[in-house]
Amino acid sequence: MCGIIGYVGKMTNIQRVLIDGLKTLEYRGYDSAGLAYVDDGVKIIKCQGKISSLEEKIDESKQGKLGIAHTRWATHGGASDINSHPHRVGSVTLVHNGIIENYIDLKRLLEKEDYVFKTDTDTEVAVALLDYLKRKGLWNNLEVIREFAGYIKGSYAMGIIFDDELDTIYATRKDSPLIVGVGQAANLIASDVSAVLKFTKEYCLLDNYDVVKMTENEVEFYDKDLQNICKEKLEVNWNIEQAEKNGYEHFMLKEIHEEANILRDTINEYVDSLNSFVEKMPDLKKYNKIHIVACGSAMHAGIIGKYLFENQVGIETTVEVASEYRYKKVFYDDKTLVIVISQSGETADTIASLRKAKENNIDTLAIVNVVSSTIAREADQVLYIRAGMEIAVATTKAYVLQVAMLMLINLKMMIERDKITSRELNELLAILKKSPEYVEKVLKEEKKYFDIAEKIYRDNDIFFIGRGIDYAICMEGSLKIKEVSYIHSEAYQAGELKHGTISLIEDHTTVIAVMTDEELSLKTISNIKEVKARGADVILLTKKELDDNYEFVSDKIVLPKVNSYIIPFLAIIPLQLIAYQVARLRGCDIDKPRNLAKSVTVE
Ligand code: F6R
Repeated sequence: MCGIIGYVGKMTNIQRVLIDGLKTLEYRGYDSAGLAYVDDGVKIIKCQGKISSLEEKIDESKQGKLGIAHTRWATHGGASDINSHPHRVGSVTLVHNGIIENYIDLKRLLEKEDYVFKTDTDTEVAVALLDYLKRKGLWNNLEVIREFAGYIKGSYAMGIIFDDELDTIYATRKDSPLIVGVGQAANLIASDVSAVLKFTKEYCLLDNYDVVKMTENEVEFYDKDLQNICKEKLEVNWNIEQAEKNGYEHFMLKEIHEEANILRDTINEYVDSLNSFVEKMPDLKKYNKIHIVACGSAMHAGIIGKYLFENQVGIETTVEVASEYRYKKVFYDDKTLVIVISQSGETADTIASLRKAKENNIDTLAIVNVVSSTIAREADQVLYIRAGMEIAVATTKAYVLQVAMLMLINLKMMIERDKITSRELNELLAILKKSPEYVEKVLKEEKKYFDIAEKIYRDNDIFFIGRGIDYAICMEGSLKIKEVSYIHSEAYQAGELKHGTISLIEDHTTVIAVMTDEELSLKTISNIKEVKARGADVILLTKKELDDNYEFVSDKIVLPKVNSYIIPFLAIIPLQLIAYQVARLRGCDIDKPRNLAKSVTVE
């Protein structure tokens, strides 16, 4: 949700530096972009559209060594040139990620002080407030930022240039991500580390209300009371190549093809031997109730967790959308565990849900990809998935690892509760270790999935049906289709479709049926026949053990014969690849679907 970068250093081609930095953050928002740089005063270039539109407007002959820039996902005020960041009022220039919730009250207050607003944004109010505080003449720039924090309700990560200190970038944050890159030849601020990698692998994290003041040669950190503080330097353990497509046409395709390797990394990290597995996984004996809380695909992964935990461990598990959970009445007891799942670790609603659990003194466990993200830092315990950078806005590889991690948690709980014999356990651990080979096998059938995509890419509607865990897989398959290809899609529990929605099925409506659960397969077949009888073209996704001569399906994808434990993350792969190819054939912007952003840091 909006990406910001600030650079001060030895390079003099500041416009290029900022544009390149923004490109690595474009996944965060891409409806408008802008930059401000210092060259005989502050100059601003900004416009609606992707970063490529901004790139057309820059003049690389203009020199400068300091600047701030922004790529936007509109919240307050539509995507337009004027609403783009940076915003400038009086002697202050600002880029901002987050939402100033009390901006209307602040606007009224500032209008009384003769401020006139030209945009619909909350950010213009924030910068006007900074200018107003500055004009009072009571404080230096650090103190102005401290005073500002006292007025604001909401979230912000901000990069600021004050006209009276044009060699310095100030930055601060509250509840929106911001890191500080510390290099030999440059210092930077950015929404995430990918944007600073070109200049440095060393970075520091900012806590809420921290303020940073940086020049080319120096970085100073202050806490909310403006006490000078030291920050631990962290090092990024991945490289710039991971942020490139490596010959793939899109990041989404590249990331799906990484699934075998990252699964290997993650499983190897947690399962090298039975003893170390038991030690590395958290102790979960004491819990008798689990709340899984997440958004979007991470929530879909959670639903798979629920089926596993309830059926195999026998522990009551609820799965809640974080935006609901944070505001609803929740029934906790001292044996409740809250598991939050988040690729980015920065999703605002998931963070709020985590904090709600903590405020109620409930133990929390996070499944996270981005190291040192807010959720990783705030949860009591963290299990990292090792997906590396996920750049495509639609998640694929992180989802697969989230499911795999839930399987590991499930195993740990089965061990703790004597729900598994040692023979069964060794078998499952062995199959998990071998699972990357099966992922590779499924990926190798890509052409088959692409042929199916060719048949359905002109559809207006695609339905998914399945039962039990298969329904959870359907939800994710359906989300992938709609978010990247813009085809309307719905996922239904196979038995539920006839309670209304079946009226939408007509001749040649595509229905993708997922049927991997042996116990429920006969029921699913009946439901497939119901839609077939109404004219649907059915694509069946099943597994070798359930394969038969089903003359009523138009196409069939058969997963290899393997222990059913790992079927959920195998089953999603064909669906991810079909969604990818459907979007490609429709000419969609696959890595940056319209209206979306990768990291949803607002409510
Ligand atoms: C869909 C997708 C989203 C995310 C959701 C949660 O492809 O990527 O639905 O899963 O926004 O994001 P994280 O996992 O970062 O909390």
